Amino acid sequence: MKKQMEKCHILSQRELGAGIFDLVLRAPEIAAEAVPGQFVNVYLKDRARILPRPLSLCAFDRTQGTIRLVYRVTGEGAGTEELSSYPAGTELPVLGPLGNGFPTELESVCAVGGGIGVPPLLALLKALPGRKTAVLGYRTAGQMFLKEEFDAAADAVFVATEDGSFGTAGTVIDALKTLPVQPEAILSCGPRPMLRALKQYAAERGIALWVSMEERMACGIGACLGCVTKSTETDAHSQVKNKRVCKDGPVFRAEEVVL
Ligand SMILES: Cc1cc2nc3c(=O)[nH]c(=O)nc-3n(C[C@H](O)[C@H](O)[C@H](O)COP(=O)(O)OP(=O)(O)OC[C@H]3O[C@@H](n4cnc5c(N)ncnc54)[C@H](O)[C@@H]3O)c2cc1C
Ligand code: FES
Repeated sequence: MKKQMEKCHILSQRELGAGIFDLVLRAPEIAAEAVPGQFVNVYLKDRARILPRPLSLCAFDRTQGTIRLVYRVTGEGAGTEELSSYPAGTELPVLGPLGNGFPTELESVCAVGGGIGVPPLLALLKALPGRKTAVLGYRTAGQMFLKEEFDAAADAVFVATEDGSFGTAGTVIDALKTLPVQPEAILSCGPRPMLRALKQYAAERGIALWVSMEERMACGIGACLGCVTKSTETDAHSQVKNKRVCKDGPVFRAEEVVL
């Protein structure tokens, strides 16, 4: 698959709430190649920040030539805070699409997302052909985002909040247990403890599980080995039990990786 650095332009940027930003870029070359579950590397203007920020594709539109990124500002002075300050019209170098993406031929799928792992599942649900359910986990109702768009994209959406302020009280695992029928396959993205708990849940019930993983990255194209994660099998590239999250992933079968 082609990887390209594209000079993109910001079409719009708005805060969805609680430090979560919704960024739409004109990026026709990336949009033309993209599949759900892939990500892009966004290069910032402050040259003190040489390393790009990897962000997942929340949506892409080949006809419009656009990509959409939904991201969280991680703190004051962070690169994502700089990104959130860019107005419409700003030119931004973006490398992508990167990584492998989710499988999209499965029937009867449940997409499970936690926190800032939720956005890439929207692109996935839009691409899946069969029956699709979503389980979304947030800290509290006030920090929910994209819920209405998931309602439109999935046959059913179940929410878990840690404080019980919306949906099931607890984690995505608690919400999964309330599903009338258990799914044949789960495709997931979220914090590692959530993925670890999902792996155990799926293994106990014979459910096929894919996880989209996050690691700190540099090159984003498999060259620097900066993003390796422990795998269960020896990797053909490095000859050790490692996988490069940027190139071999970010989506893995749960059995392939140590969580
Ligand atoms: C494949 C992939 C997809 C991602 N998709 C999203 C998304 O859709 N939305 C979202 O909000 N976040 C996403 N992230 C996490 C996002 O990349 C980090 O939150 C972001 O890079 C932090 O940058 P910063 O400037 O705010 O922090 P800083 O502390 O200023 O960053 C310093 C350096 O560390 C790197 N870094 C810090 N945290 C992370 C992290 N968690 N993962 C990778 N690199 C990190 C930065 O890229 C930068 O090079 C994704 C990460 C990966 C690996
Ligand atoms: S970031 Fe360089 S190999 Fe993955």
